[in-house]
Formats: sequence, C-alpha cells, structure tokens
Amino acid sequence: MNLEGKVVVVTGASAGLGAHFSETLVAKGSKVYGLARRKAKLDELSVQLGPLFRGIECDVSSEASVKEAFDSIMSLEGRIDVLVNNAGLGLFGPADEVTVDEWDIQMNVNLKGVFLCTKAVLPTMKKQNEEAGFGGHIVNIASVAGLLGNPNISTYNVTKFGLRGYSDALFKEVRQDGIKVSCFYPGSIQTDFFDKAGLPISANPMIPEHLSSSLVHVLETPDNYLITEIVMRPLRPKG
Ligand SMILES: NC(=O)c1ccc[n+]([C@@H]2O[C@H](COP(=O)([O-])OP(=O)(O)OC[C@H]3O[C@@H](n4cnc5c(N)ncnc54)[C@H](OP(=O)(O)O)[C@@H]3O)[C@@H](O)[C@H]2O)c1
Repeated sequence: MNLEGKVVVVTGASAGLGAHFSETLVAKGSKVYGLARRKAKLDELSVQLGPLFRGIECDVSSEASVKEAFDSIMSLEGRIDVLVNNAGLGLFGPADEVTVDEWDIQMNVNLKGVFLCTKAVLPTMKKQNEEAGFGGHIVNIASVAGLLGNPNISTYNVTKFGLRGYSDALFKEVRQDGIKVSCFYPGSIQTDFFDKAGLPISANPMIPEHLSSSLVHVLETPDNYLITEIVMRPLRPKG
C-alpha cells in the first residue's frame, strides 16, 4: 500500500509507540486519526505533527466512545485504510495479588478495545474491497508476552495470548475480503509502559523508531503479500 493520502487510525496515540507510529505515518503523507483518553497529550501531538494528524478523545474499552470516534472519522473521510490496534497496558504482579480491577482493565483495553475498534472498521474495509479490490490493513500490537508466559505477568499474558488468537483467526477470516491482518510481538521498548506496569524495564530496550520502521515496511508491502506475524526483540537486552 502506498501510504500517501491513506486514512489511518492509531489507538493509544497519546504516548509511546502510538505517538511514534503517528509521527512516522504523517511523514509518509497519511491522514492519521490518533485515539486516546488524554486529550491534552493528543493536542500537543497535533501541534507537533500538523494538519495530517487529528487527535480524537476515545476510551477504546467503551463501546459508545469507540462508536462515536469511528462515526466521526467516517463522516470526515468516508473511508479507513489502516487500523493500528496499539492501545494497551500491563499491570504486573504475583497472581494472588493482582486485583479484579487490574484484571478487568487489562482485558477491557487490551482485548475488548481491539475487538471494538476492529468491529468498527471491518464493514468499511469490506465495502472498500467490493469497490476497489482491496479492503485495508489491521495491525495488532501484541507482545512477546503473547508467545511466552513469565512469572508476575500472568494477566497481561492472558490478554496478549488472546490477541494472538484473535489476530490469527481474523487473518484467516478476512483475507478473502482483501483485508490484511498482521500481529506484532515486540520485546521491551523504551516507553512509559513500564512506569505503570510495576516491573523495571530491561537495561537496553528497543526504541519506538525501530517498531515504526517495521510498521511502515509491513504496511507498504504489495497487496498480495501479507506478513501475518513479526517477533522483534532487542539484541542485547542486558546491554
Ligand atoms: N513498551 C513495551 O515494552 C511493550 C512491549 C511489547 C508490547 N507493548 C505494547 O505496545 C502497546 C503500546 O504501549 P506503549 O509501550 O506505547 O505504552 P505507553 O507509552 O504506556 O502508551 C500506552 C497508550 O495506550 C493508551 N491507552 C491506554 N488505555 C487506553 C484506553 N482505555 N483507551 C484508549 N487508549 C488507551 C494510552 O493513552 P491514554 O492514557 O491517553 O488513554 C497511551 O497512548 C501496548 O499494547 C503494549 O502492550 C509494549
């Protein structure tokens, strides 16, 4: 896909990976709609990135909020070419100490949020395929925690293993509708993620720019060439 002029939705755009994805896609000439709850952060990014970026306040775990955000994008653009399901969080700790609220919020953002946003774009992408022979591309940001369990991150593991299953099923379901589905499994990345997660980040993590370059590569592949999964890790996490 040539990204110039394409309509892209990035969830979790107010910080970290989502903000970097937005910056990279704007540099490619895409019209980026960044979804997140912190409006002030989205406004700052708007000033930094200019008119190709528009922030929309949205809680991806809320059906009403997701509907409102996607209705507004559709009324402005009439199409959506790319959805990057990036919003997510980890709340780590021993399995007997994780609270029910911590379980719920991870499930609601990391899984229900992906489900709601994907459901919101699929009819549009299917229609685009009927009209133009290509529907669009959905990229899900999972984690190596979607491939490997580890002590003290069991609830986060559940969400990212779940996202792997969702992505794999969805890819098989919508490929004939001309819709690509790709899932990323990154190791540690230098963002605010670990400030909230409750475990220290590795000494030598990847940086968001590394992931952005892979995102662009995956999105720019020819229409009949689909990269379904990528695992990315720092070469020397301990430095
Ligand atoms: N950093 C890592 O080492 C790492 C490794 C593997 C995978 N990942 C995955 O990468 C993705 C991005 O994480 P990050 O590292 O960039 O973390 P981050 O810097 O903490 O950013 C998380 C983003 O998610 C958004 N978000 C959280 N809850 C939301 C909600 N209910 N509705 C809408 N947006 C919400 C936040 O925005 P608001 O707070 O403004 O809503 C923020 O923009 C996550 O899915 C994470 O699991 C991260």
